[in-house]
Amino acid sequence: MTEIGNEPTQQVEAAREAFEREFERFSALRQSIPANGMSLQQAEGLVRELTDLRARHMGKKSSVAACKKLIGKVAPENRASFGQLVQRTEVAINEALTEVEASLQRFIQTARVEREALDVTIPGRRPRPGHLHPITLMRQRIEDIFVSLGYAVEDDREIETDFYNFDALNIPEGHPARDPQDTFYTTDGFALRSQTSTVQIHAMQRRGAPVRMIAPGRVFRRDTPDPTHNPMFFQVEGLCVDRGITMAHLKGTIAEFVHRLFGPQIETRFRPSYFPFTEPSAEVDYSCFNCRGEGCRICKWSGWIELGGSGMVHPNVLRAANVDPEVFTGFAFGLGIDRTCALIYELDDIRLLFENDVRFLEQFK
Ligand code: FA5
Repeated sequence: MTEIGNEPTQQVEAAREAFEREFERFSALRQSIPANGMSLQQAEGLVRELTDLRARHMGKKSSVAACKKLIGKVAPENRASFGQLVQRTEVAINEALTEVEASLQRFIQTARVEREALDVTIPGRRPRPGHLHPITLMRQRIEDIFVSLGYAVEDDREIETDFYNFDALNIPEGHPARDPQDTFYTTDGFALRSQTSTVQIHAMQRRGAPVRMIAPGRVFRRDTPDPTHNPMFFQVEGLCVDRGITMAHLKGTIAEFVHRLFGPQIETRFRPSYFPFTEPSAEVDYSCFNCRGEGCRICKWSGWIELGGSGMVHPNVLRAANVDPEVFTGFAFGLGIDRTCALIYELDDIRLLFENDVRFLEQFK
């Protein structure tokens, strides 16, 4: 090779040495992967590194490729032996890489099979079951009672037009309830319903008369949160419209409900009140289930606890829902679920119901 000096041979040697330097750390893995606690991820990482190594030392731009190009430039009498040298080097590099890749692949194969093997003797992980929220438990108890009295359960929208929230409920223009300080309005002028009484109108429009339904649901008021107030709370509306319905039916129904919820010894009383959509109207109280009327912390020493509002459906409301007040009469009531729930579960503060504190909620399992 004197014609072109030692340069081509040295270039091949240099290529081999460069490869061997980089390959050194892999050479221990040539025959088999030692049981040195190699993980599947580590093995997969090594395979990726070997792929890079192969590209660098045998790829199109590698020094081995450059040596191959030299073959044509070597003097014809030396060309064959130089070609063989290049080829031996290439074969050696390829074999070294292939052996390590193969033993890594064997290891990966075995490790994957082991990882995916199903050990049916391992005890299963129990899913942590959730449970119902206390408000839902309370709502279901109320629903059960009224369903057994023949009432349908209605669900309806929480965002209302002024017609359903106010006009149809006989709440005149300028009434304080329409004040934006009391009611939440959307930017499009819709109101978040401030009471479930809106469902009275929907239910009569949908079902006509006679009708008997309850409507539990969320309502919204611009009330400042305190132990007995939340800006979002739950009510259940009740409506019974038929021929010849009187205040006596209202009193009997509420008394029956209270007996079933709190026990037969609990009494009810009606206090005159005012709601634009009922005439006459009454607040309903029940005798304290804790002290039986003697006075305690729960009933604030009065012996009575407020249940909600009620009354005989105003003829204007029946008319707004296309029911003839000359033929039909009805009663309605609206109870606060949150406060009833707080009383039954002896909570000091209804805000606890919406703080989502798992330590509190877990007690209702
Ligand atoms: C009403 O909302 C009437 N719609 C009830 C009604 C229905 C009367 C049908 C006649 C006929 P009132 O504003 O009093 O009434 O609310 C009823 C119940 O909701 C209250 O007794 C109370 O338990 C509950 N409540 C009112 N405001 C809040 C509040 N901010 N947080 C929690 N509960 C509340």
